[in-house]
Amino acid sequence: MRNKSLFWIAILIFAITQCTYHNEEDYFGDNQDNCDTSNVTFTNDVFPVMQINCVSCHNTNNTTAGVNLSDYNNIKRYAESGSLLGTIKHLPGFSPMPPSGPKLDDCTILKIEVWVEQELNNN
Ligand code: HEC
Repeated sequence: MRNKSLFWIAILIFAITQCTYHNEEDYFGDNQDNCDTSNVTFTNDVFPVMQINCVSCHNTNNTTAGVNLSDYNNIKRYAESGSLLGTIKHLPGFSPMPPSGPKLDDCTILKIEVWVEQELNNN
């Protein structure tokens, strides 16, 4: 008898913990709601991200894999070909970038995506 009630308590605990992140869409949705993409610019939201995460390997003197991400014209080239978003979003068919360490955070990626959608302005 005692074993049986323990069994049901275990089921109950399992059910409750499963509900914690039950609504994944809300969970991630919140994250994106906190991401302000209303005023995305190349200077504030794209260039610094490349400087911090990418140019150590992809600069004018060291174009790893032939890729240079040190200035607007070069960054624009990879944005237009789709490989900038493909690599940072870890899409199939692209090498995930940066190659070591964590993926860029969702908000940073979203801002770069918005910049690409807004005609790749040099602003
Ligand atoms: C530690 C060095 C290093 C860093 C940092 C790095 N890369 Fe790369 N990148 C590489 C190497 C090595 C390759 C070639 C590897 C391959 O093709 O599998 C590459 C290839 C690429 C390519 C072409 C490959 C493809 O699949 O189209 C793009 C575009 C690229 N990187 C973008 C980026 C971006 C954007 C960042 C910053 C978020 C970044 N890289 C950071 C080393 C680096």
